[in-house]
Amino acid sequence: PKVIPFSLPFKIPPVLRPVRSDSTTDYYEITMRRASVDILPGRKTEIWSYNGMSPGPTIRQRKVWYPETQQFRRSVVRFINSVGVPTTVHLHGMASLPQYDGYAEDMSAPGFYKDYIYPNNRAATLWYHDHALHNTARNVYMGLAGMYIVEDDEELNLPLPKGQYDVPLMLADKIFARDGRQVFDDQGEKHVMGDVITINGVPWPRMEVANRKYRFRLLNASISRSYLLKLSTADDFIFIGTDAGLMSQPARVKEFRIGPAERYEFILDFSRYPIGTQVILQNGKLPNNDEFDNTDKVMLFEVTRSETDNSSIPNVLRNNIPPVSEMMSQAVRTRDFRYERSNGLWVINGKTWDKNRVDANPAPGDVEIWRIYNNAGGWHHPIHVHLVDAQIIDRNSQQPFAYERGWKDVFYVGENESVQIVGKFSSTTGGKYMSHCHNTVHEDHDMMNQFEVGIGGP
Ligand code: C2O
Ligand code: CU
Repeated sequence: PKVIPFSLPFKIPPVLRPVRSDSTTDYYEITMRRASVDILPGRKTEIWSYNGMSPGPTIRQRKVWYPETQQFRRSVVRFINSVGVPTTVHLHGMASLPQYDGYAEDMSAPGFYKDYIYPNNRAATLWYHDHALHNTARNVYMGLAGMYIVEDDEELNLPLPKGQYDVPLMLADKIFARDGRQVFDDQGEKHVMGDVITINGVPWPRMEVANRKYRFRLLNASISRSYLLKLSTADDFIFIGTDAGLMSQPARVKEFRIGPAERYEFILDFSRYPIGTQVILQNGKLPNNDEFDNTDKVMLFEVTRSETDNSSIPNVLRNNIPPVSEMMSQAVRTRDFRYERSNGLWVINGKTWDKNRVDANPAPGDVEIWRIYNNAGGWHHPIHVHLVDAQIIDRNSQQPFAYERGWKDVFYVGENESVQIVGKFSSTTGGKYMSHCHNTVHEDHDMMNQFEVGIGGP
């Protein structure tokens, strides 16, 4: 079934209401189950869903500190597994305790549930997704992904666009069979490159906008595809945020690449366009992507009405981002990780995943420099380090791009690139955490290792 780009209306996933709340905690319930939904005109598509939809419902939380408990307001999410395969849920970007971090080996069997406790200690655009060992790509591709947004007072007091003008965008490519089925076949380790580009589950949607500013929170939830995005008008994206929250100051950008699991936040200002203007979010070419007829476009914004706009973009957004040089001067050690292809496997420093092996032992509160090398068979690797927020020191000994200066948890290491990062390990959370390529096909086959925050050492 062919979809004509920009013929389907834009959708935003609903915000999930807690099933109950008390003075310190909001309690949520999400059931993972198969559902039959309308994605393509005239066809039904089976998805693996959170609460019957993909993306799953958005969880929105405030970061509020309670002196009585010495904790922020928490969320407890009961994830009920009715989807027929083992699952584990990772809230990507949250500094959760290890038992609530979606450790790949810690799966819930079908018919069981698990309560995940989230500390809401970061104001950022996060996402929850499946992390089952060797099956993350399939499970995420089938639909197990949703957004989780945390805001604090400092951010809410900024005059940025809010409410209906603060819009999550989950980007993913898909392949559909003629009968509407989603096709997933990684054949051991092939990359799945879809010919259909979806935003919030809708192929190439058309979004009607007012002639004013909007804030967008863009997540690339594709399992393998990276994007090189620009606007058909050649106007700027005004970047305000990276994976782990607001940047120190806005950055104007004409074009940016976004790998799987990265999040970027930007403002688009439609006030410069007359009513009736169409602005296309376009996708350029990157090495290793398979291109199809319409993979050069993502979605359409059409300015359909006029509204007053009292939002603005302050020159200073955040002051919790120390200069990279200051962090580097605090670093207690440097580690090297080589992402490689060897004997038909995706490996890190020559090794595949082994739950009994720990490859790094930072102590709580340590600052470390990690040098990440891409030596692997001409692929790019979006490297995700759980628990830690870090900053990019350099990329191929060059300054990082303007749009990636800020706290991040995924680092795009392009073909033959190397990236140096500096990050601080939590001083309150110990235990084992994963680090892996977020091209989930690489992750599943077996480009993943773990570090343990504990004793401190090599
Ligand atoms: Cu977004 Cu280890 O994952
Ligand atoms: Cu990879």
